[in-house]
Amino acid sequence: MDNSFNASYTEYWEQRVNQLSDGTKIADSDIADLFLPLLKIQPHEIVLDMGCSYGRFFPLLFKYTKHIIGIDIEANAIQKAADYPYTQLETSALEKMGFANESIDKAFCWATFDCTEQEQVLIETNRILKKEGLFLVTGKNINYAIKDDVAFIAERNAKLKSFPNHFTDIKKLYDLANDFGFKIEHGFAFSLRGDFGLAKAIPINDKNLNEPFYEYLLVLRKIEENKDFSEPICDLFSSTAREKAHSEGFEDVITFFKTHQDKYGI
Ligand SMILES: C[S@@+](CC[C@H](N)C(=O)[O-])C[C@H]1O[C@@H](n2cnc3c(N)ncnc32)[C@H](O)[C@@H]1O
Repeated sequence: MDNSFNASYTEYWEQRVNQLSDGTKIADSDIADLFLPLLKIQPHEIVLDMGCSYGRFFPLLFKYTKHIIGIDIEANAIQKAADYPYTQLETSALEKMGFANESIDKAFCWATFDCTEQEQVLIETNRILKKEGLFLVTGKNINYAIKDDVAFIAERNAKLKSFPNHFTDIKKLYDLANDFGFKIEHGFAFSLRGDFGLAKAIPINDKNLNEPFYEYLLVLRKIEENKDFSEPICDLFSSTAREKAHSEGFEDVITFFKTHQDKYGI
């Protein structure tokens, strides 16, 4: 278990979602509400709030169904989430959840996938979703714009604090989704850090899939069971940071980050 997630992290997150930091606003319930209709939640359906933290999205999800299960690795967050009438709350990693096969109708994973071992989470989510179940997931793309200094500083600072940060190779995910047992129904890109919080969404298509962008939101449909398929689809560094390091003559990205922080601060 990663120990980056503890009571102080949850406290930090509760404050961060209500403040601008580095000039960017975290995508909130109003933004989520723009995309939630894509999950087509019916009032009888069970929704899994994956990485629910203190329950930020409970009131929104509750508008669609009263059957909401919350799961988070951080025990204090789950204690706070218990202020809401979740049907069930579990303290657990998303990589190995205690739910039965095909027991969940819809899965919602907001601002959490990048903290996890993504291949494992795809396999687990496929296992617990009912056939044809939908999975809404947001994350960070491995290839963001070289000019996106705010994204770069955020990556550098997170890494130097040893915060778990996984960048999805979105092109690979599109190529391999079927092998993981999913079909990608909808994909949206957010070009620069901060664009997600402003709902500046660009639909992903074959042409712009290879273009740089910072964040994404996908809706995946379970089409079949995953038969132990697992190929890497993410990396601990963005390709943007790797390229920057390389172009400045550094072989090791962490050394580059430290040198960059010593030189430029923030
Ligand atoms: C950035 S917060 C987002 C919380 C919530 N989804 C929201 O948007 O308000 C990330 C959450 O993921 C949880 N988390 C991190 N790694 C996890 C893992 N492997 N399994 C389950 N939860 C995890 C953290 O405890 C934290 O609550």
